[in-house]
Amino acid sequence: MSKAGRLVVLVSGSGTNLQALLDASADPSYGARVVAVGADREGIEGLARATRANIPTFVEKVGDYPTRAEWDAAIAARIAAYEPDLVVSAGFMKILGTPTLDAFPVLNTHPALLPSFPGAHGVRDALAHGVKVTGCTVMLADEGVDTGPIVAQAAVPVQPDDDEAVLHERIKVVERRLLVETVGRMAREGWTVSGRTVRIGNHTGGETT
Ligand code: GRF
Repeated sequence: MSKAGRLVVLVSGSGTNLQALLDASADPSYGARVVAVGADREGIEGLARATRANIPTFVEKVGDYPTRAEWDAAIAARIAAYEPDLVVSAGFMKILGTPTLDAFPVLNTHPALLPSFPGAHGVRDALAHGVKVTGCTVMLADEGVDTGPIVAQAAVPVQPDDDEAVLHERIKVVERRLLVETVGRMAREGWTVSGRTVRIGNHTGGETT
């Protein structure tokens, strides 16, 4: 059973999911705290949020390395320096390579109900398909694009006049809540993975009534 007290959070943008984790972990009973924030670019609000919270940050840009494999190794080393129990990819717009995935459990959040609409445009693709319900998914990352075992999902109805920005903001309200709740439960209760099935908490003792 894995537990998740120390979090390294990876961001590429506004960092509102990061902020939700920072706010939740201000209460020690939450069970997890953000020990570092990493990014693949400079000048983003996600990094500013970390700095305001006195959390150390690091930036590794893919373009600074001759090959993707070297970036994969570099970001894994930066993450490892903070000895995380769990890495949270919260709006981080890069697929992590095996150096990180083999060393740490990585949780990812996606603004659609996987396995529908994976990839960088999950909200746009769901709208274009005309679905009436979409939502968000928290999953364990693997080497694919949004293909890992699903940990938690929540549904969000699509309104007739939604555009991508409006729908994404409504999904993000639910997404932040789901991510905070899921990370907290994983930290406090632990989790197991069996095939594609993720279970939070220890269910091996059988049920009592
Ligand atoms: C989230 O909806 C995430 O799932 C998607 O990008 C958004 C990031 O938002 N990949 P923020 O940076 O946490 O505000």
